[in-house]
Amino acid sequence: MVSKEGELLVKILMFLSILGSTQGRRDAVEVRHRRLREASSFSSTPAAEYDYIIVGGGTAGCPLAATLSQNYSVLLLERGGSPYGNGNITRMQNFHIGLADTSPASPSQSFISTDGVINTRARVLGGGTCINAGFYSRASPSFVKAAGWDEELVNESYPWVERRIVYWPDVAPWQAALRDGLVEAGFSPFNGYTYDHIYGTKIGGTIFDKDGFRHTAADLLAAGNPENLRVLLHATVQKIVFDTKGRRPKAAGVRFKDENGKLHRALLKNARHSEVILSSGAIGSPQLLLLSGIGHKKHLKKLDVRLVLHNPHVGKGMSDNPLNSIFMPTRKPVRQSLIQTVGITKKGVFIEASSGFGQSSDSIRCHHGIMSAEIGQLSTIPPKQRSLEAAKRYARDKQNLPREAFQGGFILEKIDGPLSRGRLRLNDTDVDNNPSVTFNYFSHPYDLKRCVYGIRSIEEIVRTKRFARLTVDDAYTMRMLLNMSVQANVNLIPKHTNDTASVEQFCRDSVTTIWHYHGGCHVGKVVDGEYRVLGVSRLRVVDGSTFDRSPGTNPQATVMMMGRYMGAKILRKRLGRAAGA
Ligand SMILES: Cc1cc2nc3c(=O)[nH]c(=O)nc-3n(C[C@H](O)[C@H](O)[C@H](O)COP(=O)(O)OP(=O)(O)OC[C@H]3O[C@@H](n4cnc5c(N)ncnc54)[C@H](O)[C@@H]3O)c2cc1C
Ligand SMILES: *[C@@H]1O[C@H](CO)[C@@H](O)[C@H](O)[C@H]1NC(C)=O
Ligand SMILES: *[C@@H]1O[C@H](CO)[C@@H](O)[C@H](O)[C@H]1NC(C)=O
Ligand SMILES: *[C@@H]1O[C@H](CO)[C@@H](O)[C@H](O)[C@H]1NC(C)=O
Ligand SMILES: *[C@@H]1O[C@H](CO)[C@@H](O)[C@H](O)[C@H]1NC(C)=O
Ligand SMILES: *[C@@H]1O[C@H](CO)[C@@H](O)[C@H](O)[C@H]1NC(C)=O
Ligand SMILES: *[C@@H]1O[C@H](CO)[C@@H](O)[C@H](O)[C@H]1NC(C)=O
Repeated sequence: MVSKEGELLVKILMFLSILGSTQGRRDAVEVRHRRLREASSFSSTPAAEYDYIIVGGGTAGCPLAATLSQNYSVLLLERGGSPYGNGNITRMQNFHIGLADTSPASPSQSFISTDGVINTRARVLGGGTCINAGFYSRASPSFVKAAGWDEELVNESYPWVERRIVYWPDVAPWQAALRDGLVEAGFSPFNGYTYDHIYGTKIGGTIFDKDGFRHTAADLLAAGNPENLRVLLHATVQKIVFDTKGRRPKAAGVRFKDENGKLHRALLKNARHSEVILSSGAIGSPQLLLLSGIGHKKHLKKLDVRLVLHNPHVGKGMSDNPLNSIFMPTRKPVRQSLIQTVGITKKGVFIEASSGFGQSSDSIRCHHGIMSAEIGQLSTIPPKQRSLEAAKRYARDKQNLPREAFQGGFILEKIDGPLSRGRLRLNDTDVDNNPSVTFNYFSHPYDLKRCVYGIRSIEEIVRTKRFARLTVDDAYTMRMLLNMSVQANVNLIPKHTNDTASVEQFCRDSVTTIWHYHGGCHVGKVVDGEYRVLGVSRLRVVDGSTFDRSPGTNPQATVMMMGRYMGAKILRKRLGRAAGA
């Protein structure tokens, strides 16, 4: 006898295989049917204790849970819902639509840092990989060395991810133009298609397949052992529960809220090796440590959080790589593209591109790709004056923009390893609310200097013969665009000048984010080299909050790799090298 659910599953699998689906898509459907449950289902099952409780089913949490479940029982708690069947997530064309959704059910939770830059955090199984621009590129060998990672295991862990969810892109016209423009402007050699981090120009991988269908970290759960892996959705962890009877506080489990607001307690097995592992992201992990009583005692006291361990470093040293961009109007409309090409310069600046779509009269379809103003990425107002309301206003008003304003693409520059540092602090004790975050963009002069270099590099690329063929640069059009920029409140182009002070001003006024924020639980300050939280037992943090700088040109490859890597590392430690991982 085949169960009803089994029958449905078979039908869906057949349908997908008719569509010529990939292994990843079949795995995804399987995950959806077999293992995902709402958090409220927790109370209806007999009390269980787990070897590992992982908080956050995101970019690092999913591969980590899948790997540990090969040999141990794992409970994975994710505050968001399932990504499957949500077109805002699965379709590349909808990138900006999902991000603009600010409802409580949205897979992205927006926040504005005190700097005024509109930003977002994932809130869905699969985490950032469900809402990001999909570009996939590994960290440099020097990053791996500095992290103290086992190179051989790193070299096995990246392909574990790549085999399952990474593709080579069909290079879009705007990305091909950037590729040629970069090489012509001297950012050479052209290194072809590669995941590796090498100077020059390259095409990287992507988690979008040829049909523009997104594959995510949630798909990696299919590599786990279903007997050992329990995944709960809409399970919001409020705090880590500690056993404080001994000399050293010891994690015992977590307290979480289900989709109906009911509280539950999940417990670790009472064994030396059991662990709670936070993979809640660069905002979520420091926030949870603080809510659980690990942080600066003065700040915790102000909010009446019971102190477990005084550590003034929690939430310190956060940074976000500033993004600045220039719009190039083109003679003809260009196809939408997110990121496929990157120029890796020797001056600590990466150059990438994105193009929107403006062929339709439908205003929802007219957008600027990753630079869309409705997601907070474009504004002529300096950051301090930006707001979510202003972004909404833009979305309404953009109907009045002429189509030319959407005909073209952006070239953007990101600064590698910003020296400007900020901090994260609790604003209140509700885990659903964002903490207060400050990045202090360009507070370090070297960051500003690199932005100026980046903008000038973009100008050089724009002046290449390759771009001259594509773009409109007569004085009339430029004037019109500038005027339009002011009316529409978008920074389509900067005022042309080669005076350093005004390029610096342009950097400050037009700064946005590429969402690569990191830090808050730094190695040596909050966690040790194995990512164990200092001063307590049975607690680790495995995600981008432990990074001192964002890996590679874009971080997702290395964050997923790190989840797999740490899972394998933990298994090897407990089982010896013979562990299947
Ligand atoms: C719009 C956007 C575009 C991007 N583009 C790219 C790109 O093209 N290429 C690239 O390499 N990188 C890109 N990035 C960056 C990359 O996606 C992130 O750096 C990465 O996904 C972060 O991984 P993480 O594991 O640290 O956090 P996340 O993936 O965010 O995982 C954290 C998870 O924890 C959950 N969580 C948090 N708190 C709790 C709690 N209390 N209880 C339960 N669950 C909780 C969250 O819901 C989330 O699912 C982009 C990011 C964004 C937002
Ligand atoms: C997609 O996003 C739009 C808003 O940006 C929202 O109205 C819609 O409900 C979302 N769809 C789903 C399936 O969540
Ligand atoms: C791992 O891969 C990198 C890049 O592909 C290579 O340079 C390095 O030699 C490899 N290291 C090991 C130990 O295999
Ligand atoms: C912090 O809390 C106050 C009061 O609840 C609120 O007005 C403010 O918007 C919050 N700040 C952030 C950054 O969420
Ligand atoms: C900008 O556009 C407005 C309205 O179309 C027009 O009145 C004004 O003269 C223009 N300004 C410049 C500098 O072109
Ligand atoms: C740039 O500056 C140089 C020297 O300061 C000047 O000669 C040149 O005309 C300027 N170019 C432009 C396009 O303003
Ligand atoms: C761990 O799991 C792997 C994969 O399921 C299996 O091959 C291996 O035998 C297991 N090891 C132990 C010690 O149970």
